[in-house]
Amino acid sequence: MPNVTPKNPIPELTIVVPTFNERDNIRPLVDLLERALPKITWEVVFVDDDSPDGTAREVRALAREKMNVRLIQRIGRRGLAGACIEGILSSVAPLVAVMDADLQHDETKLAEMFALMQDDPELDLVIGSRNVAGGSAGTGLSALRKTGSDLATALARRVLKITASDPMSGFFMVRRGSFNAVVLGLQQQGFKILADMLSASKGQWKVAEVPYTFRKRQHGQSKMDSAVTLEFLSLLAVRMTGGLVSIRFILFMLVGLSGLVVHLAFLRLFLTFVPTEFIVAQTGAVVIAMTSNFFLNNMLTYKDRALSGWRFFRGLFSFYGVCSVGAVANIGVASAIYAVLPYWAFAGFCGALVGALWNFVASALVTWKA
Ligand code: GDD
Ligand code: MN
Repeated sequence: MPNVTPKNPIPELTIVVPTFNERDNIRPLVDLLERALPKITWEVVFVDDDSPDGTAREVRALAREKMNVRLIQRIGRRGLAGACIEGILSSVAPLVAVMDADLQHDETKLAEMFALMQDDPELDLVIGSRNVAGGSAGTGLSALRKTGSDLATALARRVLKITASDPMSGFFMVRRGSFNAVVLGLQQQGFKILADMLSASKGQWKVAEVPYTFRKRQHGQSKMDSAVTLEFLSLLAVRMTGGLVSIRFILFMLVGLSGLVVHLAFLRLFLTFVPTEFIVAQTGAVVIAMTSNFFLNNMLTYKDRALSGWRFFRGLFSFYGVCSVGAVANIGVASAIYAVLPYWAFAGFCGALVGALWNFVASALVTWKA
């Protein structure tokens, strides 16, 4: 029999905790939550992306002891923002908090956040902030990451016109109704769901901030890497287009641009060092650029479903195929436009654009199909 019998089985608060390789943090976190929230009926939902360390197994074991512990286990998918969105959508409570599993966020602030929400029904969101009086990044971030985080915050506030002091926070409480109103506009890919949510709310939300000190991670490792930074910059670009394109699209185009540089660099190299004809050098450069694009897209653009093992090579060859058709489309469109409007740059640009769009759509359907 479960040994926890809540006063009212319907939770007033759902705490969503995204996890990837956080096995050793699960029990300590739930212990801390129990100590921090004795007066309200809450549940915790761990959204695990099938962590190899067995986090899901650990959560399931705990959920057999406590009925306010739940698990969403996602297979074949990765991504912090998407995990948070699914966790929030799985809740029936009127209020939902999101926090890290690694004990870096101060769970004792949840009661205060909850009280603020209860006292003011107009309030849509409470942010756990490191940047208001009484809060701090503490020892939770290295000097380099602190600088990066400050830069990102300044940029987000400017580009996304956000007034909150800590839009990069991964610690917040939102009214589920307000969240549901913006969820369709949110990006699944990426690390910074709060910044995205604030931007999607178009300044219409009433927001409060509660200071907290970011703690040092206890067990396991941070999943923040340079890909996360690129994803964040892409998120800004997505928002600047009014949500017209996706993070994936921006990353794919950036990789495409890098391919152009690779192409020209290798072409130059071949022409200088290998005694061969132009067409051979050009072909070599094309193959190398396509390979490099495949590699980077697999690592960045499709990091959430990166191909490995034999699938990597199958993907590579399908990508060559996709890009070859893209090149034909590119040349066809450019020539057709040039025939009517003989501006080489314009015709060339249109051809490249059509080729790139084809590559994006076709590789999503063939090479990295979900
Ligand atoms: N399900 C899932 N899928 N969870 C993930 C993934 C993923 O792909 N990547 C990370 N997580 C989980 C981690 O297990 C952890 O519980 C939480 O998301 C945050 O990841 P960390 O790797 O600990 O990030 P961080 O500490 O470097 O940065 C965090 O804190 C910052 C300051 O509040 C994040 O919350 C940032 O968004 C935040 O800015
Ligand atoms: Mn963390």
